[in-house]
Amino acid sequence: LAREFAQAEIAPRSHRWDRESIMDHSILDKLAELGFLGMMVPERYEGLALDTVTYLVALEEIAAVDASVAVAMSVHNSLPTQMILRYGSEAQRDRYLPAMARGELLGAFALSEPEAGSDAAAMMTQAVRDGDGWILDGTKAWVTSGNDAGVILAMARTDGPGDRPGERRGARGISAFIITPELPGFRVGKKENKLGLRASATVQLAFDQMRVPADRLLGQEGRGFVYAMESLDNGRLGVAAQAVGIARSALEHSTRYAAERRQFGKPIKEFEAIQFKLANMATRITAARALVYSAALAKDRGEPITQFSSMSKLFASETAMWVTTQAVQIFGGYGYMKEYPVEKLMRDAKLFQIYEGTSQIQRLVIAKEIFLPSS
Ligand code: CAA
Repeated sequence: LAREFAQAEIAPRSHRWDRESIMDHSILDKLAELGFLGMMVPERYEGLALDTVTYLVALEEIAAVDASVAVAMSVHNSLPTQMILRYGSEAQRDRYLPAMARGELLGAFALSEPEAGSDAAAMMTQAVRDGDGWILDGTKAWVTSGNDAGVILAMARTDGPGDRPGERRGARGISAFIITPELPGFRVGKKENKLGLRASATVQLAFDQMRVPADRLLGQEGRGFVYAMESLDNGRLGVAAQAVGIARSALEHSTRYAAERRQFGKPIKEFEAIQFKLANMATRITAARALVYSAALAKDRGEPITQFSSMSKLFASETAMWVTTQAVQIFGGYGYMKEYPVEKLMRDAKLFQIYEGTSQIQRLVIAKEIFLPSS
């Protein structure tokens, strides 16, 4: 279903969206109609109650056609929805999850800040108690779908302003809040002009003395960073599956092109140099896919996946970057032209080495797990 939908509804419009840096909202409505915005939500909250493997298969198919649509689907399903499901009160689940599963409320995740990217715990956004609620003040950066979102899971400091400007106080004093755009003081800021994933909106969000009711605190005060990290374990699997989709698409385009393109009197697929490139591309993609779906199976068995998820994200995103670069090389001059499909794949692939934790952060997480006493 995901493949048919992506081919029929997304493929014809994907290059225009990339060029114009916009996406028709109707595509998200259609994703919602098919249940793709509530794939892992239990049936009692109107979701499809599917497992992680099934979810990632769908995501891979959408990403193989357009990673901008896939990233909106991935962030929504993996981060805000899972955070509310796992840590929300019954009242919060009842209030938000059915509307999120129906696609009426698109979800976003606001962790990073202009001065806190890889070092997410260095965030400065403050949440100060005000009567029975909170006042939030600060700026969040690189928020996928932040301009369209009906629910934003935002992390903020609840441990006071600190003693010294720029002091790093770490993860313990951070809490998670459910933010909705009608709150006074909420403002959508700059929309980023990106190299790739151009149809997916990436925005800054400003919280200007924003009053947040008490019932928007998610879970326990001071545990927001841990919730965000646990959710990123899920999110990074989604990122990895999308990277496999992008890489697969590059291989499919390259295989077709190698059969059609003739040089030196024969199709270029008859040259060993091209065959070896295609063989290496196919091998790396198969290895990346095996890693991602092994991690997904481990998650569905209820095993810890922090290391597995980071390995998947690291390997699949590096694979996507390498494979798409090879694809551009196989297409030669045409590969560099916007009329052909592979330059977009290469631009899109680059972001997968950066967002939801850079390749360097994934290596830190993997190494840390290697040195855990239980390993
Ligand atoms: N699961 C559960 N708990 C975890 C965890 C995990 N995967 N990772 C860390 N924690 C817990 C630790 O156990 C610790 O808990 P206690 O305080 O109770 O001991 C706490 O979180 C702090 O952990 P660390 O000391 O390891 O924290 P750190 O400050 O050293 O940071 C880091 C670790 C891995 C570098 C982390 O900051 C990180 O992942 N950085 C990258 C951030 C990132 O991925 N940003 C992307 C944002 S989303 C995005 O791209 C945009 C979008 O729209 C999706």
